Amino acid sequence: MKGILLAGGSGTRLHPMTLAASKQLLPVYDKPMVYYPLTTLMLAGIRDILIISTPADLPQFRRLLGDGARLGLRFSYAEQPKPEGIAQAFVIGREWLAGEACALALGDNLIFADHLSQLLQAAAARPVGATVFAYRVRDPERYGVVSFDTAGRASDIVEKPAAPQSNWAVTGLYFYDARVSDLAASIAPSARGELEITDLNRRYLEQGNLHVERLGRGCAWLDAGTPDSLLQAATFVQTIQSRQGMLVGCPEEVAFRLGYTDAAALRAQAQGLGKTDLGRMLAELAEGAHE
Ligand code: G1P
Repeated sequence: MKGILLAGGSGTRLHPMTLAASKQLLPVYDKPMVYYPLTTLMLAGIRDILIISTPADLPQFRRLLGDGARLGLRFSYAEQPKPEGIAQAFVIGREWLAGEACALALGDNLIFADHLSQLLQAAAARPVGATVFAYRVRDPERYGVVSFDTAGRASDIVEKPAAPQSNWAVTGLYFYDARVSDLAASIAPSARGELEITDLNRRYLEQGNLHVERLGRGCAWLDAGTPDSLLQAATFVQTIQSRQGMLVGCPEEVAFRLGYTDAAALRAQAQGLGKTDLGRMLAELAEGAHE
């Protein structure tokens, strides 16, 4: 399975911070925002990743992430010239995907959960259909919202409904089977001129092929698209890292734990981070202090 990291858009809800910088490169505590969804894709076992951003911002992503080899990954890059919808990622990435199954992670979403990698790998292993993750929120009208029938099966999925039928928001992490490029190409733009990810998910739902995993109490899902949610995400990461000494959203750590890199590589990466706390924590990991 391949992965797409979508980091486009103009980040208008974060102006003026995003007037001259990509939203997904803003800091969430001690790392660029894009590191968090990147590690989510890595935990799903995905190593081939297409990073999509605006023509203006793409060079900065290349500078930050390179070709991925130092993490045992393969990064490719593609431009989304205009913010014409999340599902457009599969139109832009069609050739690169070459008919493979694909996961899509939004560049401003952070998911933290116990046993996350098992959950993600189960979704990645599903040969047919799509998997999305739903999370209970107080303000579902800001998101794609999924409702369920009395048997607990997903019955409807609506983008930013004025009168939400449930509190279950659809998170920005999606797993699709090999038909995704064809299905995405068949969607018409919505009233706001975008290829809506919710319309793609509804296609799968109508075919009885949409799996909805509900994320429960033990999980945190945060987006970082507004000043408040950006601050909440940063505080969350700071709290976990400083309280438990566990890293959140650190690609170097995940690559090492997954066996893509060895202790010598991790030590060099830690040194590259100088005297930062992050560098110190990675150095400790390389020495086996966290075993
Ligand atoms: C997008 C999707 C929405 C989803 C959300 C998750 O909304 O359209 O369905 O719930 O991401 O972050 P946006 O953030 O583009 O408003």
